[in-house]
Amino acid sequence: MTSEWWRTAAIYQIYPRSFADANGDGMGDLAGITQRLGDLAELGIDAIWLSPFYTSPQKDAGYDVADYCDVDPLFGSLTDFDAMVSEAHARGIRVIVDLVPNHSSDQHVWFQQALAAAPGSAERGRYLFRDGRGADGELAPNNWESVFGGPAWTRITEPDGTPGQWYLHLFDSSQPDFDWTNEEVREEFRRILRFWLDRGVDGFRVDVAHGMIKADGLPDWTPPAEGGSMGGAAGLEEAVVDPAVAQAPYWAQDGVHEIYRDWRALLDTYPGERILAAEAWVDPLPRVAKWVRPDEMHQAFNFAYLETPWQAGALRRVIDDSIDAFAAVGAPSTWVLSNHDVVRHATRLALTEPNPQGHGVGPRTPGLGDPATGLRRARAATALMLALPGSAYLYQGEELGLPEVIELPDDARQDPTWFRTNGERYGRDGCRVPLPWASAAQSYGFGDTDAAWLPQPASWASFAREAQQGVEGSTLSLYQALLAGRRAHGLADGSLEWLDGGADGADVLTFRNGDVTVIANTGATPVALPAGEVLVTSGPLDVASAEMPGDTTVWLRTA
Ligand code: BGC
Repeated sequence: MTSEWWRTAAIYQIYPRSFADANGDGMGDLAGITQRLGDLAELGIDAIWLSPFYTSPQKDAGYDVADYCDVDPLFGSLTDFDAMVSEAHARGIRVIVDLVPNHSSDQHVWFQQALAAAPGSAERGRYLFRDGRGADGELAPNNWESVFGGPAWTRITEPDGTPGQWYLHLFDSSQPDFDWTNEEVREEFRRILRFWLDRGVDGFRVDVAHGMIKADGLPDWTPPAEGGSMGGAAGLEEAVVDPAVAQAPYWAQDGVHEIYRDWRALLDTYPGERILAAEAWVDPLPRVAKWVRPDEMHQAFNFAYLETPWQAGALRRVIDDSIDAFAAVGAPSTWVLSNHDVVRHATRLALTEPNPQGHGVGPRTPGLGDPATGLRRARAATALMLALPGSAYLYQGEELGLPEVIELPDDARQDPTWFRTNGERYGRDGCRVPLPWASAAQSYGFGDTDAAWLPQPASWASFAREAQQGVEGSTLSLYQALLAGRRAHGLADGSLEWLDGGADGADVLTFRNGDVTVIANTGATPVALPAGEVLVTSGPLDVASAEMPGDTTVWLRTA
């Protein structure tokens, strides 16, 4: 029997470094996750997705993998992994792991072999080595820039000590890109997929799923200045598709789809509906939908939704466009507001200046906005998101209303973006700070010592899970109510009927999904609350005057 569980699943992203630290070394670990699965079951999610925990020198927080089939000792062991999966499954929680196929770490045995081998060798052929331009090969093979800033090429020293070839890295220089036209690379990744499928994982979130194939000849390319780092448009304005972005010779090349068809066929040989979810920063939405055609992936992250401002008209358009684009290929839409690469939505939704994806925010960022407004909007935005049909992704800590940490000291920052831009871009550390579990404990109960790999702000006591558990009106209670209501009313499996609002310039959106009417007031002015039983509200209501304030979403049961 197929349940197609992924069409409606609420999937909670765990960033293992920052979730829970069982051994008190300041770094979260797999044993910590296992201990906290009860809290996640109580939250009401269907699946977890774990960011990488594989063997890695951690130059990009584990997205630089040195061994795809082992656990880094920082996070535990394969035995800890197996224990975590079986405990999750016992609680009815599915487990999705991250797969990083665009690049490996420079410490991967293949890359070390490539460095030791000669130009033109089979070892070099697994990556994208090229001779340089210029009389002595002293210029990079083309003008591509790294997503993290600086050139996308690094020159090596040949084994004989002479300046040598260059290798491509769309990200950090410690993350060489594989050559996916090489069958050996393809076969290796089939082996990796089987390794984790055999261990019982329910699926893979595929990192940089739009980047693995590069245009023939690696032609020069200058990205538009205002584009998001990962390819999609970004900013406070409604996402505008820049046709130039669509032409980047390293994003969204047609050749990637053949790889996903191959993987889908492999996954389909396993029982239990294992899934593939694409991280593809591509726009517009009908283009993203190519990743989820029936014989490709199951889901793709909806970054157009994530990047939409808190504004009724823009939201209505992106919701319609999402449902239409994915339905056209028979896929569910997904919804997401935060992850480990973007400014947390409790901060982002109050920003008053554009902030391209990946740039992050810090003490010198203009237009940071008011934190209370940000939290109110974040709660309202989540209440809207969790009423939509489809699958929703949550990022650890958003259920606590965590803001982005803005005041991280410069010497604590670890994102390669920060280093590669000489501090011009803050990068993503502010959304990765270890979670607060208990107000009064050391490291707020992240571990049982005061160690935390990124410092936690002094102001986080009130955000701790323990301080919110069972407290009416807390963000945690709101998330629990939303997830329970979403399930009880079949909203993820439902369909959306607009009732009102969303016209250009309007502040209010109203729609119906089954027996629930959802009203989101994205403006500042209170509006009349229609009659009906209030099922959930994202913020306080003035029941006496039958009004809902601005930046609030309400779910009503209607006849
Ligand atoms: C991941 C990032 C990572 C990058 C390179 C992304 O899309 O989500 O965290 O830095 O891929 O692997």
